[in-house]
Amino acid sequence: MNGKRLLYAGSFDPLTNGHLDLILRGAKLCGHMVIGVAKNVSKKSLFAVEERMEMIRLSTEHLRNVTIDGFDGLLADYVREREIDVVLRGLRTAADFEYEARMAHMNARLYGNGAETVFLLSRPEYSFISSGLVREVFALNGDISGFVPGEVLKLMKREKA
Ligand code: COA
Repeated sequence: MNGKRLLYAGSFDPLTNGHLDLILRGAKLCGHMVIGVAKNVSKKSLFAVEERMEMIRLSTEHLRNVTIDGFDGLLADYVREREIDVVLRGLRTAADFEYEARMAHMNARLYGNGAETVFLLSRPEYSFISSGLVREVFALNGDISGFVPGEVLKLMKREKA
């Protein structure tokens, strides 16, 4: 996929070590990676899109071929506008598969530019992590230091203080 433009999209509320692992692995597989932070997901977000983008920027600034952007509306429209070749998704467990397969099939009908959805399996040590669980543990003062990048933890603590 060298030379290809790859999109890794999500709400990243907040960015977790599982997301970061996919970013590192995805960035090695493509020419350029766009990390697309969804602005208007149906879920109510804890962090503003600018904060989520800042968390990602701080955690990925050593990566030369990665840019971060916010997007609104249909993923497929964004894929066409930004001339994306590959949309990367992570699969943590079999439970992710049904949802991901439905989304990939729908997107395949909507892309209209020949883009493909490609899946990477999450590493087993990250397979149980989700942003929602991280938010819940953090809200109840649990230790989330093993689940989010250091820069994200700093921002979250500053926000809570
Ligand atoms: N490591 C850790 N956590 C992961 C993960 C990984 N590798 N992959 C997914 N997750 C978690 C996320 O943290 C999130 O957790 P949460 O629900 O507890 O917050 C959950 O799994 C779902 O994440 P994700 O699949 O990235 O969904 P999302 O809601 O963050 O973003 C979009 C999905 C933005 C790509 C999708 O909703 C979209 O395309 N929206 C645009 C509108 C559109 O086009 N709709 C039609 C789609 S066919």
